Amino acid sequence: MGSNGTVTELQRNSTNWTVVVDEIVKMEKQIFPKHESLARSFDEELKKKNSGLLYIQIHGQVVGYVMYAWARGLLPCLLLSRSLQENYRGQGHGEALLEAAIKKCRTRTVPRITLHVDPLRTPAVNLYKQFGFQVDTLIQGYYSADRPAYRMYKDFDSK
Ligand SMILES: CC(C)(COP(=O)(O)OP(=O)(O)OC[C@H]1O[C@@H](n2cnc3c(N)ncnc32)[C@H](O)[C@@H]1OP(=O)(O)O)[C@@H](O)C(=O)NCCC(=O)NCCS
Repeated sequence: MGSNGTVTELQRNSTNWTVVVDEIVKMEKQIFPKHESLARSFDEELKKKNSGLLYIQIHGQVVGYVMYAWARGLLPCLLLSRSLQENYRGQGHGEALLEAAIKKCRTRTVPRITLHVDPLRTPAVNLYKQFGFQVDTLIQGYYSADRPAYRMYKDFDSK
């Protein structure tokens, strides 16, 4: 399961929980600067009832993931952190993970999905736009004093 590049949902109480989360925390530390990384709170965020993790494993190694969280009612579903190991980028895995995360969010009674992204992360911004996300606003000082974020959203009544 999930060893051939397919998107897998991490199941609560599964025996591979710790291994998968440890690998992802390692990736968070490698890929994101400290102020952008969820490494320190990843396990804690994931244990919350209203969050989930989708990942791709190839040859026993986690190569990409996306964490999502939702709230009841009119609050949006949030895409919290997502990334791909460098040598597995540009092969459609990011697209597969985002598509799966959107499907997961659609199953909740939420009107929209939101996420934050550094505007300089062009591959990520392009990927989100490709899936119909729009820029809501630019938030100055979001990641750090000199690093803003786009807040992007996708409404479920749009494509
Ligand atoms: C953003 C990221 C997840 C994309 O994953 P990926 O597997 O490389 O992306 P895919 O191969 O599925 O490509 C999907 C789309 O993303 C965009 N994209 C991907 N790589 C790109 C690049 N180098 N330049 C511009 N756009 C790019 C394109 O729109 C692409 O669609 P196309 O192939 O039809 O042009 C990956 O680059 C990554 O992990 N980056 C570092 C961490 C990061 O920025 N995470 C997002 C934090 S908000």
